[in-house]
Amino acid sequence: MINFDFHKYASNYIKKEDKSLYLDKAREIKKRFLEGDLKYWNKLDTFVSSQELKKIVNMTDYIRSNCDVFIVIGIGGSYMGSKAVIEALSPMYNKKKPEIIFLGTDLCSEDYYETLEYIKDKDVIVNVISKSGTTLEPSIAFSLVMDVMKEKYSEEDLKDRVIITTDPEKGDLRELVNLKGYVSFTVPEQVGGRFSCLTPVGLLPIAVAGINVVKLIEGARLSYERVDRAIEYAVIRDIMFKKGKIIESFTVYNPKLYYFTEWLKQLFAETQGKDNKGILPISCVNTRDLHSLGQFLQEGNDIIFETVIGIDKDKKVALEKYDMELNSLNKIALDKVGLAHFNGHTPTNLITIDEKNEETIGELIHFFILTAIVGALLIDVNPFDQPGVQEYKKLISEELE
Ligand code: PA5
Repeated sequence: MINFDFHKYASNYIKKEDKSLYLDKAREIKKRFLEGDLKYWNKLDTFVSSQELKKIVNMTDYIRSNCDVFIVIGIGGSYMGSKAVIEALSPMYNKKKPEIIFLGTDLCSEDYYETLEYIKDKDVIVNVISKSGTTLEPSIAFSLVMDVMKEKYSEEDLKDRVIITTDPEKGDLRELVNLKGYVSFTVPEQVGGRFSCLTPVGLLPIAVAGINVVKLIEGARLSYERVDRAIEYAVIRDIMFKKGKIIESFTVYNPKLYYFTEWLKQLFAETQGKDNKGILPISCVNTRDLHSLGQFLQEGNDIIFETVIGIDKDKKVALEKYDMELNSLNKIALDKVGLAHFNGHTPTNLITIDEKNEETIGELIHFFILTAIVGALLIDVNPFDQPGVQEYKKLISEELE
């Protein structure tokens, strides 16, 4: 369950008359989500069919009992969502087997050298994820990992050890599936990378990490009721921007949500940051970052607003000194920092989940996906492309040719 407080530490900034300017546009966007061209964003089948979900669950059992290391290859939206959910919901120590390694997010030889050495003597299953099937980093990672795997496994064995998640019809990876008979999953055509956490792109690695993907999806479904809230939050962000708050900090008070803020940065940056428009997303993990960026938020240039994701209930750790639970102290910190930042001209939107689990994380994911799309529509940019990303890809490939 998510709770919203867009008033306590933001009220001075958002006036009724500001909001009323958005009424027509908000109504039109809502209609598009409820019965128009955006309707598919609020349907479970858009992200994963029940057949694929079953296949994911079955495949997970196989993977978990047949490898030491599960390598997930992908970049951007092809890995960020699963990394965020796995970090958010896994224990810090004594993680479940197999070990999950993410690869294909850089071109750093030290990273590859050490990883390839590490997997040499391990039983490996690889899941390469690329919607286009042509992205440079994952394709390099895949070829390097395959070199190691071909030393260890026969062509026949590889059919059980290579899993490809890609476009249903086209691209190099789909051709490879057709040629070699590797197991494959599909990225639904209308769902771009950064929106694909709840498709097989994110769900398979998340399930392999021992996280209940059915509950994650059930949580996302709860958010289908939240179109109004997503529109309200997107409108508030836009008003903040127009009042000079051109940077949004996604702030959390649980370090396990660090990658969730990375996913948010990617989601909002690629969805809205185009045509010289958009809010720059940054992130803070508090209370750690109160001792770095916190100074800027309090007293620096007044160009930032915060969206804080709080968690109501947490594990019990008694703090005798103050006769309270540590989590109560963390919540006091969240509240008082909100007040301090508000006094320092940095307003806060507060989004609280009752506890951190599969349902609430699924609900947050879908809620933020809706918000990012609405935010792009409010500033008249296409939410679904990322032409700037194509630009660097083009320049590198021209150099390689
Ligand atoms: O959100 C997006 O579309 C991007 O971040 C892509 O996920 C990223 O560029 C990787 O693309 P692909 O899955 O085609 O390799």
